[in-house]
Amino acid sequence: EGKAPSESLKNLMGQCRARIAAPATEVAAQRVALQRTDGSAFFGHVITTAIDIDGHPGVIGFIQDVTDQVLMEKEREQISAQAQQAQKMEAIGTLAGGIAHDFNNLLMGIQGNISLIMLNKAPGHRDVPHLKNIEKAVVRGSELTRQVLGFARGGKYEVRATDCNHLIERVVALFGRSRKEMTIRKTLQTPLWSVEADQGQLEQIMLNLLVNAWEAMPGGGEIVLETTNVTVEENTPGRPPDATLGRYVCITVTDTGIGMDAQTQARIFEPFFTTKKTGSATGLGLSSVFGIVQNHHGFLTVRSGKGRGTTFRVFLPAAAPAPARGAAAPVSTNGRERPATLLLVEDEEMVAAIAEQMLTRLGHKVFLAGSGGEAVAIYREQREKIDLIILDMIMPGMSGAETFEQLKTIAPEVKVLLSSGYSLNGQAAGILNRGCRGFIQKPFTIDQLSQKIREILFSPAAPPA
Ligand SMILES: Nc1ncnc2c1ncn2[C@@H]1O[C@H](COP(=O)(O)OP(=O)(O)OP(=O)(O)O)[C@@H](O)[C@H]1O
Ligand SMILES: [Mg+2]
Repeated sequence: EGKAPSESLKNLMGQCRARIAAPATEVAAQRVALQRTDGSAFFGHVITTAIDIDGHPGVIGFIQDVTDQVLMEKEREQISAQAQQAQKMEAIGTLAGGIAHDFNNLLMGIQGNISLIMLNKAPGHRDVPHLKNIEKAVVRGSELTRQVLGFARGGKYEVRATDCNHLIERVVALFGRSRKEMTIRKTLQTPLWSVEADQGQLEQIMLNLLVNAWEAMPGGGEIVLETTNVTVEENTPGRPPDATLGRYVCITVTDTGIGMDAQTQARIFEPFFTTKKTGSATGLGLSSVFGIVQNHHGFLTVRSGKGRGTTFRVFLPAAAPAPARGAAAPVSTNGRERPATLLLVEDEEMVAAIAEQMLTRLGHKVFLAGSGGEAVAIYREQREKIDLIILDMIMPGMSGAETFEQLKTIAPEVKVLLSSGYSLNGQAAGILNRGCRGFIQKPFTIDQLSQKIREILFSPAAPPA
């Protein structure tokens, strides 16, 4: 096996001759790659046994064509290896998701307390720079949890029809500003089909790919970004067997950097795999890209060679053509909050305490519920008074989704702001589609909270309740 057919035929003949020279009675069987007389290759199951032909030593052999069987075995092995890999990723994802969830709540506690302290300090106070530094650390921490949640199958938060060309322009502006020594060339197809995507997560994909490309070109170089409309067919290169056929948007990121050998390429999507020596490299970049692309029912391919640069292609399913949706109504920025009454549903005590204080500082009246059941009970009693419910999505017992359903049975027009560090299996997207008014990601600052509340309660374009 594995040798050129003619070579293995020579071997086989040699073995037969050896058997004639030193006959033994046992039967020998082996599987050999062979060639038919028409030149085509096949796998043969060869059985030989030494015989005596009228006093002369001889060999009798049978060759059975087992090509189909061999191919099937190979395929089965490959599928089982893939299944194992998928299982491993899933286990790591579950673990990482759980940690990231708790970690995010801790960050929320830190962020919230800083927000409150800052409110009490004059801008020039000598503690302010330190507080700002803590805030920066919180932002880095939450970037980290976002990466982890990307590959932890974090689900999509806010799925919207998205023009990838706009998104790329935005990300490049952000990315290129701090890295002048590098050129970025864009070939963007217009009109580009739109994709149903979580913009924050798509930005994350693009940033991760751009940062990797940049890091692969320490001596400078060129990054080429390309977008194309692609119809994926059975034989499209790199298409995983389970990918749906049809219309996709393909985003290509090519660099002229150091490239990768095959060994590295085989591992790049593993969480925590990195070849970088710098302390800030976590090896989470591409695993989060991978998870996010999967979440969006897309796939990605990579082409690279040592010293030959690298090309990543991200395929995202195109959205069914639909009339463009209007942009979100701008929020009036004329400062002051109008006081409202809110029901805060949060099982994590520290987060509940800090969020309550933030809301109080914003001038709102707050009811607190520590579980979905409690929230439903309070809302049943106080629904006339409550303007908005801030609902944590992941709670033990009754989940955010179930709680939301029950609240809707009490009052179909109930206004709910979903809050979470992440969503399991795209839960948030599901709830948002079922009429939830907005989503705020933990850890949030007091300004972000205030902004979201205003968007829902006081924005002129808000759907009538
Ligand atoms: N464009 C590229 N060119 C060459 N090698 C790459 C490229 N992109 C990724 N790699 C290889 O894949 C590895 C994994 O990439 P990944 O983005 O997951 O982690 P990282 O960049 O090492 O760390 P982090 O993204 O957390 O800073 C890299 O360490 C590098 O070896
Ligand atoms: Mg990276």
